[in-house]
Amino acid sequence: MRLDVVTIFPEYLEPLNVSLVGKARARGQLNVHVHDLREWTYDRHNTVDDTPYGGGPGMVMKTDPWGDALDSVLADGYDTGSHGPALVVPTPSGRPFTQELAVELSERPWLVFAPARYEGIDRRVVDEYATRMPVYEVSIGDYVLAGGEAAVLVVTEAVARLLPGVLGNAESHRDDSFAPGAMANLLEGPVYTKPPEWRGRDIPDVLLSGHHGRIARWRRDEALKRTAANRPDLIERCDSAAFDKKDREMLSILGWQPAPDGRFWRRPEAVEE
Ligand code: ADE
Repeated sequence: MRLDVVTIFPEYLEPLNVSLVGKARARGQLNVHVHDLREWTYDRHNTVDDTPYGGGPGMVMKTDPWGDALDSVLADGYDTGSHGPALVVPTPSGRPFTQELAVELSERPWLVFAPARYEGIDRRVVDEYATRMPVYEVSIGDYVLAGGEAAVLVVTEAVARLLPGVLGNAESHRDDSFAPGAMANLLEGPVYTKPPEWRGRDIPDVLLSGHHGRIARWRRDEALKRTAANRPDLIERCDSAAFDKKDREMLSILGWQPAPDGRFWRRPEAVEE
């Protein structure tokens, strides 16, 4: 997969040399190019922004540097044999970035990231490139960052670990908390490793039992407990067919009950502090 990032802070993308993404690059599984947007400015001050039409606070990133940068990056990619680019624009106004979207992006051969600073990029840039390629405007959460670079790191890491051969163990993402098509999207429960006792704290006995069935059940119950506590919306969203008899027992202990529409809901008084 080829990745291009156009940014006014190329050094912000240094973490792409580290850890999983860094190794995938070193192995040739990821071909990453970081570009300085200011290379496509032509005035003394390397201006990339200007005041917004219609007034208002902040500055807007200008059309020309972005247009010239993206044209040049796309031309370079095509020249070196890449195809099927998609433009990824991180913005708090984008669609939520989910595991499902990470899977979709991981199936594309070439992603071009356009992280903005200030109040965003002049809309005409996205409109222009949307006539030539898929454009994904994505938000990594309901909060506002100072710019899209941190979101590029987030998206890149989520996508890179899905590429064939990057994690080494294809099964490791089948069980991811948000893997698409999972029976029920539950959060993963707690995990433990050696030593068996630490500061007077033991490992749950069942994990030492060697009994695979009981361990799987325990893990599932812990996942239900954690999901009920931290993401009740995930349980509300599940079709009740996703829950077996033992799941229902645990959900009932946690204060959940099936509604006539097949979903589960929790009595308000059952919500623990
Ligand atoms: N840029 C600023 N805030 C952002 C967010 N939450 N997601 C993606 N890009 C952003």
